Amino acid sequence: MKYIRVGTSRPYDVHIERGSLKKSGELISAVINSKKAVIVTDDTVDKLYSEALTKSLEKSGISADIFVFPHGEQSKNLHTLGNIFDFLCEKGITRSDFLIALGGGVVGDITGFAAASFLRGIEFVQIPTTLLAQVDSSVGGKTAVDIPGGKNLVGAFKQPALVICDSDTLKTLPEEELACGMAEVIKYGMIRDKNLFEVCETRNISNIHEVMDDIVYTCIDIKRQVVENDEFDKGERMILNFGHTLGHAVEGWHNYTNYTHGMGVAAGMCMITRRFCDSDIVMRLEKCVEAYKLPISTEAPMNELLPFCAKDKKCESSSISYIVCPEIGNAEIRKTTTADFFRLMEG
Ligand code: NAD
Ligand code: GLY
Repeated sequence: MKYIRVGTSRPYDVHIERGSLKKSGELISAVINSKKAVIVTDDTVDKLYSEALTKSLEKSGISADIFVFPHGEQSKNLHTLGNIFDFLCEKGITRSDFLIALGGGVVGDITGFAAASFLRGIEFVQIPTTLLAQVDSSVGGKTAVDIPGGKNLVGAFKQPALVICDSDTLKTLPEEELACGMAEVIKYGMIRDKNLFEVCETRNISNIHEVMDDIVYTCIDIKRQVVENDEFDKGERMILNFGHTLGHAVEGWHNYTNYTHGMGVAAGMCMITRRFCDSDIVMRLEKCVEAYKLPISTEAPMNELLPFCAKDKKCESSSISYIVCPEIGNAEIRKTTTADFFRLMEG
């Protein structure tokens, strides 16, 4: 068992332990007094893990109703959020009760936003069940839903009361979803931790499970440091977006269909590294990315991607911030005019 204390404006623990889903009741009771909760989950995760969670909650005297919505990004919207609010009213949830997000980043983001806004804020616990959610979205307090104008455009900063990471739950993940999380793990190695990158490059999609607890711990600890320094995303936190500006553009170019976020991040990291870094770093990154069956480039022409970059949240009216890793384990934030970025990337 390992745990990490995240020292944000509202401090909380991340508990990392195989099999910890079955101890959730006990872990939650140690930080939350209420005996009434609503579990929010998607239909896939519900079938796999709701029973184990409710049993554990019952043992600790916590009663929980379950709100289930269809899996996938297309559910992370105001319509589902409205249905969650209606369900909370129906179940008589008060300010002293709490929500539990059981699932991937979609469940975590929408549940966190519901917790931030229902009754002007109630407690919530994150139980992330994808690798991406364990190493990234469940920690740091960013919550959001998508609107027709764009992804994650409506949200709030809301830190959870507790995060429980059970790497056993990752064993049921489809390989594509595991790869998606590995893109973020490789990102952490590139921006902050040469040793983590070396672990990634000496393994592959088939044998990475053996070292999963260590990987999850290392990534969350990096995220902790970054978020503690810049909780509200005004500067350093931007390094977490290495590969993401181009990655989001590639995802957008594919209309967010048949192209995962992890594929976008992987291709985006390789594209920016090829443009700005030495060939030995490029070769190592590409080989590592390929070991997890992720792409190193895209068929999308650069001139068609750049307009998508201009819509990125890290893009101000005429300037853009992008992240470069001149060496493995070290990231730099660079800011330039959008026109100059376009010229550099097309060159
Ligand atoms: P997801 O939540 O859609 O999960 C991916 C798929 O895996 C879903 O179909 C889900 O049902 C299934 N699944 C989840 N756990 C499973 C398990 N243990 N076994 C089998 N199947 C399982 O996607 P995701 O990749 O976890 O998260 C992506 C979302 O996270 C995006 O909406 C993104 O914007 C958000 N995000 C947020 C942050 C943040 O800081 N808040 C950071 C990164 C990403
Ligand atoms: N996933 C990026 C962040 O939390 O800032």
